[in-house]
Amino acid sequence: MPESAHTTHDADEDARNRDILIYVNGELVHRDEARVSVYDSGFLLGDGMWEGMRLYDGEWAFFDAHMDRFFDSCRSVSLDVGMDRDGIRAALEKTAQANGMETDVHCRLMLTRGVKAKPFQHPGLSRSGPTLVIIMEHSKPVNALQSRGIRLATVPQVRGLPMSQDPKLNSHSKLNCVIACLQAEQAGADEGLMLDPHGFVNTTNACNFFIVRRGEVWTSTGDYCMNGVTRANVIRLCEQNGIPIHQKNFSLYEAYGASEAFLTGTFGAQTPVAEIDGKPIGSGERPVTAEIQRLYKEMVAQDVAAQSARRAAPADSRTQP
Ligand SMILES: Cc1ncc(COP(=O)(O)O)c(C=O)c1O
Repeated sequence: MPESAHTTHDADEDARNRDILIYVNGELVHRDEARVSVYDSGFLLGDGMWEGMRLYDGEWAFFDAHMDRFFDSCRSVSLDVGMDRDGIRAALEKTAQANGMETDVHCRLMLTRGVKAKPFQHPGLSRSGPTLVIIMEHSKPVNALQSRGIRLATVPQVRGLPMSQDPKLNSHSKLNCVIACLQAEQAGADEGLMLDPHGFVNTTNACNFFIVRRGEVWTSTGDYCMNGVTRANVIRLCEQNGIPIHQKNFSLYEAYGASEAFLTGTFGAQTPVAEIDGKPIGSGERPVTAEIQRLYKEMVAQDVAAQSARRAAPADSRTQP
């Protein structure tokens, strides 16, 4: 990656991450020693699902929304998680505790179809039970991206149709997105802006994409892109706070002429877009993005406080979801 390049996942260096413990099927292992088999379905085929989540004040923000997506993804490819969402929460807590982690932490929770008897594709060859790995790092997105913004390039790689590999599957196999990112980098940008099969602007290779035009916030219909937890939260907070929001088809014509654009994802929350295909977006003033960022911070704080209050309540007074 060229030194001037940035990604939406740029984080401040944190020396504590050199000695973190990784969760591998119930064991906690130093990162240098953490291993999965070369026969693992994730390694051989990208046959697995993952979630990225953030820990704030001891709570995983929007935990239920992440678990809904994770369990739906696993169910749709007949990947047996082997535990319920409380089991996943316990595994996350065990890992956070072992690492002394409480806040400003990012985790990648990964589940694969497990170790195969032979290095071939058939899912029936995965006979060990699933492999569950949790990587948790101290992580704070770099501040510099907020003023500088991210540079996007529209790339030839498009989003897939749901009947090939549904782009809603947060699978280990991200080759479609990786190719898009490589194409963006070759065009001198940080991240790839991907179109849908009809040529409408859809999403980037790692985040969801929003534009602001005449005070209105626009994003794609939601077809062909990742059903981002942050995307859904931004749509909800616009609806709840009187910010006009539209999920609709639009083309590069409208994206180039936007007054603001931003990306959403669990890691970076909302990352401003500075330019698309070399064209600067707006004047650099970003009042709507700034307001959404403020409201989103409040939303995270409310979610974390509500989860913490629920867990502090006696078990018999908790309502089942
Ligand atoms: C392609 C893609 N788009 C968007 C997102 C953002 O999703 P979320 O807001 O749930 O982190 C991700 C994250 O996994 C992704 O891989």
